[in-house]
Amino acid sequence: MKENKFEFNYKVYDSISELPEEQQWLLNEAREVSANAYAPYSNFQVGAVAKMANGQIVAGSNQENASFPVGLCAERVLLASISSLFPKVPIETIAISYRSDSQKSDHPISPCGICRQSLQEFEGRVNHPVQLILGGMEGPVYVIDSASRLLPLAFTSDELR
Ligand code: THU
Repeated sequence: MKENKFEFNYKVYDSISELPEEQQWLLNEAREVSANAYAPYSNFQVGAVAKMANGQIVAGSNQENASFPVGLCAERVLLASISSLFPKVPIETIAISYRSDSQKSDHPISPCGICRQSLQEFEGRVNHPVQLILGGMEGPVYVIDSASRLLPLAFTSDELR
């Protein structure tokens, strides 16, 4: 028997003002785009904005439904748009932020398990890491060099070849 360990490094900034200018801009876009979410049931509005390798900026926000499981997270709304608009273009960075009527937006949130799986697949299919910038409307910001870091021992397309 041997024991394996999984660990990864990510950057923690005390506030958005410490980020390089381009990353600040993208996170501010994600903050703004969260206002476009349709989230009347959770009142938790998420914005995700991608900078593509071709320079395009694409935005997504969570879209809920009275039939709750129909709802989609901001990240998967974003990935569906990207796959439709630019199926072969790598994503360089996705910034994710959120707002809520009922709680403070003062710390980073990270993608849910299903979105991690979707992000991992996108990285694999274009063979390029997706950097994540995670932050609330205020407070610390995390920068993670590749979304797949959040999904160790992932089930991937390799298993289905
Ligand atoms: N949500 C996202 O859009 N992204 C996340 O990373 C976490 C959760 C959405 C799903 C749902 O509409 C609301 O936030 C509350 O879970």
